[in-house]
Amino acid sequence: MSNILENPKAELHIHLEGSLEPEMLLKLAAKNNVSIKYKSIEEISNAYKFNSLQEFLDIYYQGMSVLHTEEDYYDLTYAYLTKAHQDNVTYSEMFFDPQAHLARNIELGTVFAGMTRAIQDAKNNYGINGSLIPCFLRHLGENDALKAFDKLMDYRKYFIGIGLDSSELGYPPGQFKNLFELARKEKLKLVAHAGEEGPANYVWEALDILGVDRIDHGNAIHSDQELIKRITKDGIGLTMCPLSNKCLKVVPDLHYHQTRNFLDAGIKVTINSDDPSYFGGYANDNYQALINDLHLSDKEVRQLMQNSLDVKFK
Ligand code: ADE
Ligand code: ZN
Repeated sequence: MSNILENPKAELHIHLEGSLEPEMLLKLAAKNNVSIKYKSIEEISNAYKFNSLQEFLDIYYQGMSVLHTEEDYYDLTYAYLTKAHQDNVTYSEMFFDPQAHLARNIELGTVFAGMTRAIQDAKNNYGINGSLIPCFLRHLGENDALKAFDKLMDYRKYFIGIGLDSSELGYPPGQFKNLFELARKEKLKLVAHAGEEGPANYVWEALDILGVDRIDHGNAIHSDQELIKRITKDGIGLTMCPLSNKCLKVVPDLHYHQTRNFLDAGIKVTINSDDPSYFGGYANDNYQALINDLHLSDKEVRQLMQNSLDVKFK
């Protein structure tokens, strides 16, 4: 009997910088002369223990500082797409954080050249398709985002949408209204991380003020029946990331994960890896974790995979 995990699926919530495996991190640090705190894979693995989103983000931004050349961005992207293909992901919408690279004087041309060449090679070699979605860092505020958006417009043909990520509490989505209005005029798809650590109210703002097409995470929706109704009625996709939620203590453990409740409510929930090298697994590891802990049936798993194909942008 074939394993349900071999079925085709889309991955819609993966940060490329979060797929930087410890081996590649150490290799690139040595090649690019970047001094990092860690001497071995073991030291890195020991550091990957988090109590909150912020604790993770501090380590994640340090980790990505080893990325310098077009080749580095190529290797990062190609390695992720190889793993995704092994999990029978046939299409992936990949996030990255342009401001985190610009802040280190890496030009967007370098980032896009490496990433787009890897996407093309992975398509030729594996048949997997991929699209890019640059995300803006909430903790830097809207003015910095607008400056980065302006630079990104030189590369408009290389991405399909924009997103919003980084620290959530204290940065309600409504603060980025002008940015999202500009992006909408450019016919870009719109997504935002909301309701990961933040309250349901942030999800309302992402929908009503930013006009997003999908919500990334959205765990907090469970506390608001009106919001559940709204998201169901409008067919808004939810890109959930169980292993991330467990590692960042968004849920006490996966027995409490909201996936089944949201599926039962008729929400287009999807399962994704977020930052696979930090949270212990790629797409299929996330499905498997829910099969183990929520005892999802094959029918439920099939529905989650179908949802991913229904709410993808291309
Ligand atoms: N950037 C990378 N992973 C993230 C997450 N889970 N939440 C917010 N920003 C992120
Ligand atoms: Zn994310």
